[in-house]
Amino acid sequence: MSAALLVFSMMAVTSCLAQEDFSYDGENGPYNWAKLFPTCGTRQQSPVALDTSEAVPEKTAPRLHWKFWSRRPTWQQLHNNGHTAMLHSKWREGEDQPLLWFTGEKERYTFGVVLFHWGDRYNSGTEHTLNGIRYAMEMQVVMYNTKYDDLESATKQPGGTLLMAYLFQEDESYQATALERALSRPLNFIRGAGTGVRLRRRWPLAALVPRLSAGYLLYNGSLTVPPCTPVRAVLVDLLVHDVSDEQMESFRKLRNEQGEYITHNIRPLQALNGRKVVIGGYVN
Ligand SMILES: *[C@@H]1O[C@H](CO)[C@@H](O)[C@H](O)[C@H]1NC(C)=O
Repeated sequence: MSAALLVFSMMAVTSCLAQEDFSYDGENGPYNWAKLFPTCGTRQQSPVALDTSEAVPEKTAPRLHWKFWSRRPTWQQLHNNGHTAMLHSKWREGEDQPLLWFTGEKERYTFGVVLFHWGDRYNSGTEHTLNGIRYAMEMQVVMYNTKYDDLESATKQPGGTLLMAYLFQEDESYQATALERALSRPLNFIRGAGTGVRLRRRWPLAALVPRLSAGYLLYNGSLTVPPCTPVRAVLVDLLVHDVSDEQMESFRKLRNEQGEYITHNIRPLQALNGRKVVIGGYVN
């Protein structure tokens, strides 16, 4: 056991997003998800192709409020669920948890999970495309409405979650970001499906999740994995971030339940079906 990390195998993995049998190829692949999970066949699905020139500038785009994002969690874990790497965090019971909300709305969203999508190349890993470009990696932060007990119950409710997506381009040089520092070593300990590692150094979300300060695109979409539940909104950061090729190689060494490398956990683009994409930048 490493001095800095506690490694364990998770036999009874608590499901956070649905763990049902789906895959990115073959019979249970994305083109058949709708047969297995009917919601995946509905009309407001994610991901979509985003185009800033077609987005509607909205002066009244909702302002976002962030609170308690600097609180350090008491527990943080990186886990390979066979589809992706998931970063879980917990704060002490009764303490203020990170919150996000829209101006004028009563609904409060708290932290659910951070997860990642990637491909085998620098241009094949984001689920959303931005102005025709697909980048190396997409980080998604799933927030859930505090009126639900936990992320799992919220993901069953239409609008129960809020999805924030961040696109990363692959860069040859080391990226000295907190996110990269947080994940670098732990990723090496979760190569097998169902393994997890507890982070000895716990990171406040404020260090890992950018605040959309360059503005964002917002549209009505869904979770990009089954059961593909509609979310309150998808918010995509307009700023493209950097990830090192070294870190991307670590992601590509993770394995699924069949023991194969996870080299493409991205859902194909879904039709917009007339949906409006709003461009907003009113953040504080
Ligand atoms: C999302 O859907 C809701 C409910 O139909 C609607 O009021 C809202 O304007 C939509 N948001 C966008 C950005 O289109």
